[in-house]
This record gives sequence, structure tokens and C-alpha cells, in this order.
Amino acid sequence: MNILVLGSGGREHTFVWKISQSKNVGKIYAAPGNAGTSQLAQNIPVDINDFPAVKDLILKFDIGMVVVGPEEPLVRGIRDYFKEEGLLDKLILIGPDKKGASLEGSKDFSKKFMEKYGVPTAKALTVNKENLSEGLSFLETLSSPYVLKADGLAAGKGVIISPNLEEAKSALKTMLDGQFGAASQKVLIEEFLDGIELSVFVLTDGINYKILPEAKDYKRIGEGDTGPNTGGMGAVSPVLFADKDFMSKVEERVIKPTVKGLQEEGMDYVGFIFIGLMNIGGEPFVIEYNVRMGDPETQAVLPRLDSDLLELFKATANNSLNEFELKTSNHTTTTVVAAAGGYPGSYEKGKVISGLDNANNATVFHAGTKESDGLVITNGGRVIAVTGMSSSIEGALEKSYNALSEIDWEGMNFRKDIGQDLIAFMSKS
Ligand code: AMP
Ligand code: GLY
Repeated sequence: MNILVLGSGGREHTFVWKISQSKNVGKIYAAPGNAGTSQLAQNIPVDINDFPAVKDLILKFDIGMVVVGPEEPLVRGIRDYFKEEGLLDKLILIGPDKKGASLEGSKDFSKKFMEKYGVPTAKALTVNKENLSEGLSFLETLSSPYVLKADGLAAGKGVIISPNLEEAKSALKTMLDGQFGAASQKVLIEEFLDGIELSVFVLTDGINYKILPEAKDYKRIGEGDTGPNTGGMGAVSPVLFADKDFMSKVEERVIKPTVKGLQEEGMDYVGFIFIGLMNIGGEPFVIEYNVRMGDPETQAVLPRLDSDLLELFKATANNSLNEFELKTSNHTTTTVVAAAGGYPGSYEKGKVISGLDNANNATVFHAGTKESDGLVITNGGRVIAVTGMSSSIEGALEKSYNALSEIDWEGMNFRKDIGQDLIAFMSKS
């Protein structure tokens, strides 16, 4: 079976890498891909939000399965388009329909879904310009810090957390005035959840589901979780505080009611649910749903999957997920992202990356890279993600950082403290 992976980041390189190890894989294509995917797949320069162009690719290359990496094509309805075009009769598409993707595409929709199906989450109120005064009064009932979220997709930048009530009130007005364009025509005001964050990943056919290894993401650019938010500067799996007891609460209180909700809402949900959670004193609360895998969490999660990913996807699409035996490794993976100097602010592209061939004992996943005249050059903010795997977190980190010490480009920047919070947690418990 020929496979098409849509996207160009580290997550997509990881999908290509894992699928390339599958028994029954034919040719792999990545659109548009990066310098990493091109080593294992054929890159095709196509705009993945141009669905007729994607359809042409599918017909031209006799594709049997499409794996959608990022959320945008899902939120724009790629599954619905494929259905209308009659493509889903012969083709597996990993990704939910537009209604399912609203769980990520609209934070208001997602909050109402959680409330309707009894999924534990932060108390919230959605406001627009018409009921602004209600929003301002609601803010007064909360305690600091105050959380404001743009309703729509805002490239990961739509959440503002403010310690000060007056600042939060004025930030709310600025957001409703169009700070994030149409995405902030509606804003959620949310109670702050004070706990430790982790992400749980579920693959579902809309009825059955498998829980994949969980991961912890490192969102801030600076060490000690300081500075602005990024797409994610590192990931570790497993997460030590997500013990059996906690994970069974997650399954009973979050995953089961969520999957029930997918059914009752009539969503055509074949794909991933990425559940952003806060662990507050051992109790799980949902911060958000994403309808795709995380980046860089995928780079830590998929290496821990011993099962054949292609077969797992086939089982998902053929409604036989409940018969699939998911095998995972009990090793720890640590992923460290190296970014362009200046990221997440403005940064330069086109820097030559050296040393990639010397990075041994770890897997280098490419994100913002491309080939140019036989060289690999930087082409984005997050450039590579390096995953080490070992029986201990310390061993995994050593592999990630040793590999990174071989690699260089002008302005390269990475956090040196990935996983240190988990090591400290372990030594306390
Ligand atoms: P989101 O875009 O919903 O993932 O939010 C971005 C980040 O903001 C999350 O990963 C959390 O770290 C933080 N965050 C969002 N909502 C809350 C909340 N209610 N309480 C505390 N932190 C939050
Ligand atoms: N690393 C967070 C995300 O993929 O949304």
C-alpha cells in the first residue's frame, strides 16, 4: 500500500520513519515534507490545504492511505471533501471530519462538548463583543492568574495568561477587537488550573480506542520554563507521575466520555485525539483537545511503539481496533528540539546544518529543514528534534544531548533542561 503523509514538520518525519518500518508498506510520499522525509519518502511540493491538488496526488500515485499531520486540513474539512469525492471507499484517511475537528478548531465548541459529556475541565465563559460586560463580571469572580483563549485556531498563540485583573480585562477587549483576527471574535475566559501538565494520546475509530504512550511537552523557549511559548521544545515519554491510578482516572473520566461524545454528536472520527491534561493533586482536568498528534510529542511517542504503525492504522480504519494488540516499549524516550536563533520571535532561514551524519545512538527527526545544492539548510523555527531512547531517563537524555553536540548551525538553540523536572520528581517520590 502506498502512503501519503501530509505536513512538513518533525511529527510528519516521525510518521514517515515509523511507517517505513512497516511490513506491508509500498512507496511513501510526503507533501510537502522536509529534508528528513526525503530520505525515506518522495517529497511532493503540494499545498495540503488545496484538497483538489491532494486528490490529484492520490490518483496519480495510487495512494491507499493518507495520514494527516497538522490540524488545519482537518479543521477545513479534508475528510468531508474526500467523502464527497467518493475517495473514502478505496482509501484510508487518518484524521476526523470537520465536525470532529471542531474539538480543536473551536475552543468554545470543545468546552461545551466537555461540559455536555461530563469531562472534567476548568470552569469557563465564552464572550463576544455583545456580552463583554458579562465577561468582565465573570473575570471578577475568578482569582489570579486569569486565562483568556481565542476561540479559533491562532497558530498556538491564542492563549493569554495574565496575573492582573485590570490587565486581563484590557487583554480581553484587545482580543475581541481582533488581535487574532476572526479567531478571537469569541474568547473563552477560563479558571486557571494549577497542576502538572501532560498529554495523553488516543487513536480511535469513533467507537473503539487505543491509548498510546503519554508524554510531557516543554512549551517555553527558556530553561526552567521561562520566556514565551513555542510549539514545544522537547518531550519525554513515559511521564513518571502518570501512574496506573492516574491513567485509569483518565480513561474512565476523560477518554470514555469523550469517545461516547464523538458517537452521540455523529462525528466521523477516525484518527488521533490528543488530550492536554492538568494533573491537580492526582485528579485529571482537560485543558484542551487536539485532533492530531503533538509535535514534538510524536517524536517521543512513536519510537516507543513496538507495533506496526501501518497495521495499527489499518485496524483503526477497518473497525478492528479492539482486536489489535498494541505493543509498547517500557524504555524512556527524550526528545530535544533545536531551534533557529530568535525563535519563537523572528529568525533567519537558510543556515547550513553540519554534523548530522555524526549524530549516532539517537534519532534525528527533521522539522524546519530543506535540501539545497546537496546541503541541508534550516527552513523554519524548530529545525530538528533529537530522540534518545534508553532504560532510564538519564540514559535517554545522554543520547539526545550527545547527538546534539555533533550538530551545529549558526544560531542553533536548544534547552539543556529537558526532563530535569521529572528527574527531580522521581528523587522526591
Ligand atoms: P492551549 O492552546 O489551550 O494548549 O493552551 C496553551 C497552554 O496554556 C497550555 O498548554 C497550558 O500550559 C496553558 N493553559 C491553558 N489553559 C489553562 C488553564 N485553564 N489553566 C492553566 N494553564 C492553562
Ligand atoms: N506540542 C504541542 C502541540 O503539538 O500542540
